[in-house]
Amino acid sequence: MACNWKLHINSYEEAKRTFLAIRKSVAAGRRVVAVVCAPSPFLPQLARLAEGHKNIFIGAQDVFWENEGSYTGSIGPSLLAEIGVTYVIVGHSERRFSGDTDEMVNRKIKATLKAGLTPIVCVGERERDDHGVYLSFLRNQLHTALAAISAVDLAKIIIAYEPVWAIGKDALRPITPHDLHETAIFIRKTLAESYGTDAAFAVPVLYGGSVSASNAAEQLRSGVQGLLIGRASTKQEEITQIIRIATQES
Ligand code: PGA
Repeated sequence: MACNWKLHINSYEEAKRTFLAIRKSVAAGRRVVAVVCAPSPFLPQLARLAEGHKNIFIGAQDVFWENEGSYTGSIGPSLLAEIGVTYVIVGHSERRFSGDTDEMVNRKIKATLKAGLTPIVCVGERERDDHGVYLSFLRNQLHTALAAISAVDLAKIIIAYEPVWAIGKDALRPITPHDLHETAIFIRKTLAESYGTDAAFAVPVLYGGSVSASNAAEQLRSGVQGLLIGRASTKQEEITQIIRIATQES
């Protein structure tokens, strides 16, 4: 359960309360792991709260591909590793809207892996059409993002499928289970083109976009191994309920 808090939580008190609720609910289960992707200023403190606790990890919402230099405002992967971060969301559509290209996403993935962090690589079409154009878009996004990434490194990557039209408060609707199922298979087939079926099926695929406690169960039954949860992950009751649902489904 990757929790993408975005900029929804903006006081440390609230971050801590929500984090502790998530920590408690994953401790109760066995197979559900939560990754809390918080705004950067909260990462060091939350990493300390995660220490020694099972099933909970800290993620950053973005990263730069260099580790040092004249890059005002950037945070490199080794700095994230240094403060106890172990996951990084790479290529989120909200970063792509701010200028991230597939090539930049590829550089970020490589730098993240090199620092020993796990990238959660987001892909997803902006709109769906009836002619399968969105599938070629998705295929191209995957191939470019993963260019020159070895099979050994693929095994350290998580893919998050996030159709842009399903994300955020202006979302049209969450994806239907049928469409999610088909797209999850398509993602694996695309990965299999470069890495073979076994490697492709070993990669965890998450779904993100308008996930809530009322639709989490059906999404988890639609060919994905987890969820990338935005707004709902910032509401204590809702995220703990989603974790309970995931525990039952696992
Ligand atoms: P949402 O965001 O759950 O608020 O739609 C998901 C995401 O963008 O990661």
